[in-house]
Amino acid sequence: MNDPFHIVLLPGDGIGEEVTTSARRVLEAASERLGLSLSFEEKAFGGAGIESSGNPLPDGTLKACKEADAVLLGAIGGPEWDHLSGELRPEAGLLRLRAELGVFANLRPTVVPESLAHLSILPAELVEGVDVLVVRELTGGIYFGEPREYTPTRAFDTMTYSADEIDRIARVAFERASRRRQKVTSVDKANVLAVSRLWRERVSYIGANEYPDIELVHMYVDNAAMQMILNPLQFDVLLTGNLFGDILSDLSSTLVGSLGLLPSASLGGITPLFEPVHGSAPELAGTNSANPIGAILSGAMMLDELGEYPAAMHIAEGVSGALALGALTQDLTPDGRSPVSTTEFTDHVLACLNESAVSTPNF
Ligand code: NAD
Ligand code: IPM
Ligand code: MN
Repeated sequence: MNDPFHIVLLPGDGIGEEVTTSARRVLEAASERLGLSLSFEEKAFGGAGIESSGNPLPDGTLKACKEADAVLLGAIGGPEWDHLSGELRPEAGLLRLRAELGVFANLRPTVVPESLAHLSILPAELVEGVDVLVVRELTGGIYFGEPREYTPTRAFDTMTYSADEIDRIARVAFERASRRRQKVTSVDKANVLAVSRLWRERVSYIGANEYPDIELVHMYVDNAAMQMILNPLQFDVLLTGNLFGDILSDLSSTLVGSLGLLPSASLGGITPLFEPVHGSAPELAGTNSANPIGAILSGAMMLDELGEYPAAMHIAEGVSGALALGALTQDLTPDGRSPVSTTEFTDHVLACLNESAVSTPNF
């Protein structure tokens, strides 16, 4: 057996703990079957970090993340910490973790295989075959721009991008598209924002000079939101800044049926970071009802990034197998069919891990 991959696990808050427990069980089972060795080290983060050491990103957590092969995160935040402001918030810890790790490229795939098209509230013929990869810039834009200020009578943030920041995320989007369906749709608000004019100019330049064979379409963000629902099959890679990608990736979850299904990978820095797209869903916390698929597939994206493609495939197939058997958590059973719990769904995935391929991951 090779040296173990050292994984730092950050359960975080709310349903974060339940979904990372599921992901870890599936990762351990798949690894064992494929002769892979993973070691997990759990650390406090987010609200849990605030409770244990007064800091959403405790020093020991950050150090462990920097030294790990990969970080797997559940979710952070909740009403307990909503009265806090600035750097003391759990969300600030997450932004700092992303910045400290330097993971500027956030990949958020939404895939709707034929077998799952009925789970969306949208007509099956509209969403069947959807395969969108949101490539979201993660360490810049309005999330990090200075100056920023809050006073009770006036507040502001700064949306800023340098040409270099745009160029490097554009290259990630074009590279991914070159392995997929050869199309990048770049999202901006260039009819209003100076930062978006630069964004459009640089993306066009990189496309024309370095990826002339990839189709490039520019789209205003308001139209992109509508097109996502109206005609999602037109999208292959969706290239966005930090804020627009946050919004559009949540929106894309309606295509597949639930936010709980979506995984993500954040790459390009010291240590890759993997987390479901959803948050801590405080109202579901402790009820054993959250959908763990986003976290489990984030684990699959992690194995893929670590070069363990067969193990990643194996996990994706286990998830598809459990869904195909009709095991659905409550977010996917609005019609009153009886849902399975988080742990029951995970048990189904474990039982399916040995079965034959149903679909392939498309990261
Ligand atoms: P949320 O993503 O937690 O929940 C939005 C909706 O989706 C809710 O109806 C919730 O029940 C549902 N949902 C989310 N994940 C689910 C899952 N796995 N299974 C079933 N249903 C699921 O977003 P919110 O309610 O706007 O925010 C709650 C807290 O989470 C806030 O503190 C927010 O800052 C934080 N948050 C954290 C992250 C993160 O850690 N990456 C992401 C988004 C929000
Ligand atoms: C996400 C979340 C985070 C973001 C918050 C919690 C800081 O919404 O990961 O999508 O906005 O990036
Ligand atoms: Mn979000």
